[in-house]
Order: sequence, then structure tokens, then C-alpha cells
Amino acid sequence: MSADVRGLPITVANDEALAAYEEAVAGYLAQKPDTMDHLDAALGADPEFVMARCLKVYLLKMAFDPAFLPAARECLDTARKAAGGATDRERRHVSAARFLLDDRAVDVLATLDGIAIDHPTDLMTLKLTQFLHFWRGDAANMRDVIGRALHAWDPDTPGYGFVLGMLSFGFEEGGDYEAAERTGREAVDLNPEDSWAVHAVAHTIEMEGRHADGIEWLKRTEADWLGNNNFRFHLWWHRSLYHLERNEIDEVLDLYDTGVRGEKTDFTTDIANGAALLWRLALRGADVGHRWEELGERAEAHVRDAANTFFSTNYMMALLATDRREAVEDLLAAIRKGSARNDPIASRAVDAGVALSEALRAFHDGDYGAAVDLVMPVRYNLHLFGGSHAQRDVFDQTLVLAAVRSGRESLARALIAERETRHRQVPAAWKAEVGMAAH
Ligand SMILES: [Fe+2]
Repeated sequence: MSADVRGLPITVANDEALAAYEEAVAGYLAQKPDTMDHLDAALGADPEFVMARCLKVYLLKMAFDPAFLPAARECLDTARKAAGGATDRERRHVSAARFLLDDRAVDVLATLDGIAIDHPTDLMTLKLTQFLHFWRGDAANMRDVIGRALHAWDPDTPGYGFVLGMLSFGFEEGGDYEAAERTGREAVDLNPEDSWAVHAVAHTIEMEGRHADGIEWLKRTEADWLGNNNFRFHLWWHRSLYHLERNEIDEVLDLYDTGVRGEKTDFTTDIANGAALLWRLALRGADVGHRWEELGERAEAHVRDAANTFFSTNYMMALLATDRREAVEDLLAAIRKGSARNDPIASRAVDAGVALSEALRAFHDGDYGAAVDLVMPVRYNLHLFGGSHAQRDVFDQTLVLAAVRSGRESLARALIAERETRHRQVPAAWKAEVGMAAH
């Protein structure tokens, strides 16, 4: 029986396939653009390679684009047929991959959490499981899935830096910023190509409102993540947020054109980065020119995906901004039926996503009071559809401005105070409108 680089038994026909699979796992952790090429090379060398098949299913599904699902199903079918001689860990992965494709999130997470407990050096599983907890808004498990595995790792274990990078992001989303920054910087020192750790530190700096530090951090590390897959667009998106809070609008627009949407890709997260940034700019009264148009077109092509409520709400912004009214209705209908109602978390997430989307529509139409009324009852459920605190902040900004513009002064003052308590900046104009001193 072969073993992977960390000593876990793995069923594979030859060394060539195993070497390519190891490259794919490392590429997955480091957001490399050739990850799928390595995976296909592994499957070329061993078409019945169960772990490579499972990783391919995971990657295709987690792109949140139904166009990839037929290939994912085909890949899973081969894995299931090949699983007879596989190890217990590998067979559990085949189950997890099937649950994932069937949108059985509770079963996927129970299976993957179990694998991570029994095989804590299964690096790919740690990464995937943290990401799935992320899409359930489960910050505690994002931290703890890594914490539970740490006992099996030491600095000499290959991939140790990646583990620290994931831990850093878990700390950040859990609100422990000191631990997040310390762990994230240690991860980057050990392994400069760990852009997930770079990203975790960027999030921490964002949450603490240290915008100059954030610009410096992302500029300084840029050479190490420039060769990333589309994740580099997201890192430029983070840098744009710092500039936006410093009111450096020209810099934001320039980064939008050269970085965030430097390539007009059709990838879910890339469209979301663009839409959320333009929406934020619009909330500050900035003129974004014709930039919405291509996003609106792309969002319209995805209205029936219903693959991820967070992304659907981002598509909603682009549809509203480009006045695609029919597509708005189609998107709302798709979100409503987008989740298994026997899963209470997903069900509440969908309800929150629908209310939020209707609030965005009301806001866009100038019905600010309705926007407030729609969001207020669900605002503490929004995390259930995932996304980071920084990504969901656009909804909070929209709510604050809706409260200001609807003339609900006491609510506006309260939300502004709440926001400032969380280190979030509030534009002076919003405060002035409700008679609050700028500071
Ligand atoms: Fe992020």
C-alpha cells in the first residue's frame, strides 16, 4: 500500500499518479491555477484513483456553477465503482462526495469532520471542511476543525504552514484578531505562497480598521500571490476595501479595472467581488461609469443557478444596477427553492437571503423604509448563508444608509454607533444627515 507525503495510506496504481495528486493537493491549498491540470494528470495515470476522483468532485461542486455538475457526477460514478478495494478513509470520502453533490450539507460535514478527527493529517480534508463550515456561517467549526487536528502536526510535517494559515482564518472569523494575526503571519513566514494565510491577515486588518496597514500588507506580499488562480482577484478586492475606507475612490476604480475585474471572468466569486465593490462605491455616491453592464449580463446568465445564496445576493446587486427586472424576479424565485427544507440551517439561510434580496431591491427603488423593515428581522441570520464578515459588511452598509435615508433617526444613530463599536468606519455624510458629529 502506498502512502501520501504525510504517511496516510492511499490506494493508487503508480507513483506518477500519486506525485500528480500531491501536486494537486498542494495547489488546492495554495490557490494555484494548475490544480485541476495536476488532478487530471493523476487521473490520466490512474483513472480509478479514488482520492483524486473525490478531490475533483469537491472542486467542481465548490465552484458553485451547475455547468460543472455533469462532470462531477461522472467523476463520482467512477470513484464509487473503484471504491471496493479502497481504505475506510477513502470510502468515507466517496460518501462525502456523494452527499455534497446531493446538497446534503449536514451529512457532508458529519462525514468530513469524522475523517478529520480520525485522520488529522488529511490536509485536503481540513481545507475542504473549513471551507464548507464557512458556507454555513459556522465560525466556531472553522477554527475548531483545525484545532482538533493540530495535535497530529508539528513544524516538520509537510504542509504545516497551510494548517496555521487555515487556523488563522478560523480565529479571524471567530473574532480573535490577536491570535489570527499572529498565526497568519507565522504561516506566511513559513510558507510565503500560502495566500490563504495572507488573506486571513488581510481580513484581520480589515476588521480592526487598520487600512494603511492593510494596503502595505497586500502590496508587500503581492509578488507571492500574483500567480494565484482567481483568488488573486479577491485579494485585490480586499485591498480595494481599504482604499475605499480612506475615500481613495480613484485608486479603488483603478484596482477594479486592473485587478478585481482586470479579467472579465465568468467565475462566481469573481462576479461577486465586482458586484459587491461597485455596490459599495454606489453607497458612497461614487460614479462607476459603465462598469455594471458586464456584471449584469453575467449575473443574468446565472439567475437560475441557485447554487449558493450568498452569491445569489451578489448577483442581485448587478441585476438591480442594470435594471434587469425580469431576471430579478427569476433570481428571487430561484433562491426561494434553492435549498433543502429539511435542513434547518439552510432553510433559515434561504429565508434570510430572500428577505435580504427583497431589501436590496427596495433600497435600489428608493423605498428605504421597506429595505429596513425587510433586513432588520433577519440581519443576525445572514451569516447562515456564508461569506465572510468582510463580504457581508456590504449588507450592513446598505442597512445603515437605508435607516439614514428613511429618516429613522434613532435607528440610524444606533446602527452607526454599533458599527463604530465594531471598528467599522461610517462616512461622515451619513452621520451628518442624522446630526451626529463626525469623529
Ligand atoms: Fe476575503
